[in-house]
Amino acid sequence: MEELRRAASGCDALLTLLTDRVDAALIDAAPSLRAIANYAVGTDNVDLKAATARGIPVGNTPDVLTETTADLAWALLMAGARRLAPAERAVRAGDWPTWEPGTYLGLDVHGAALGIVGYGRIGQAVARRAVGFGMQVLRTRETPLDDLLRRSDFVSLHTPLTDDTRGMIGRRELGLMKPHAILVNTARGEIVDTDELIAALESGGIGGAALDVTDPEPLPAHHPLLSAPNVTVVPHIGSASTRTRAAMADLAVDNLLAALAGERMPHVANPEVYELRAGDSA
Ligand code: DGY
Repeated sequence: MEELRRAASGCDALLTLLTDRVDAALIDAAPSLRAIANYAVGTDNVDLKAATARGIPVGNTPDVLTETTADLAWALLMAGARRLAPAERAVRAGDWPTWEPGTYLGLDVHGAALGIVGYGRIGQAVARRAVGFGMQVLRTRETPLDDLLRRSDFVSLHTPLTDDTRGMIGRRELGLMKPHAILVNTARGEIVDTDELIAALESGGIGGAALDVTDPEPLPAHHPLLSAPNVTVVPHIGSASTRTRAAMADLAVDNLLAALAGERMPHVANPEVYELRAGDSA
């Protein structure tokens, strides 16, 4: 953090990863900073208010990662439904004595109810895939969250991390879910209360969790979440296809170059900076 602050102090522009915390102190420490381009669609690692107050546009990388992230949400949903992670671990451990009628029994995906929390680009892309599985799709756009949690067999999170969504899936919300329901998170780990998630999994309050994102992140190897039943965790790889990561890099650089040339960033998370500028020059 200290090192990043020092390195940023003489910069006109920053190309940041979601693991770089760009807070008000860092922005203050960089008097010539004119642009921040985040290599991610989420911008929760950047203090948008502080950047806006300084008139600094913050670019992000939407659209190019939508379908790739939705693919991974589906991979996780299927893995959770059919208990792929524990089943695969058992094979590797030499624990496949014979074919048995009663082992690794999972959930049917086809015909099940899928609750989508947050119906932006990625949530919609996840919903499109559900059509092929004949699922009933519930969306927070028209179904209140509590109702959605009560009725869904799978709950997939697609909200950005904000002050309003931090911890939005806690003890009460997990308590509303069906005992067999699977929670899928490809959004941000902090949307879910990790301790409450572990408690819900261990008590059988929910049926499983399939997570691309965790809190904390990275998740230490001996974290209790990894010992909870039917948990699948992958290391924040939602957008990790070769093509998508290259497209994100192109977009982040386009954002940066546009800002340095005094033009509007193609994708900006705090568009109000341009309105403020227009107001200033009027
Ligand atoms: C993002 O872009 O916000 C993802 O979490 C990483 O691709």
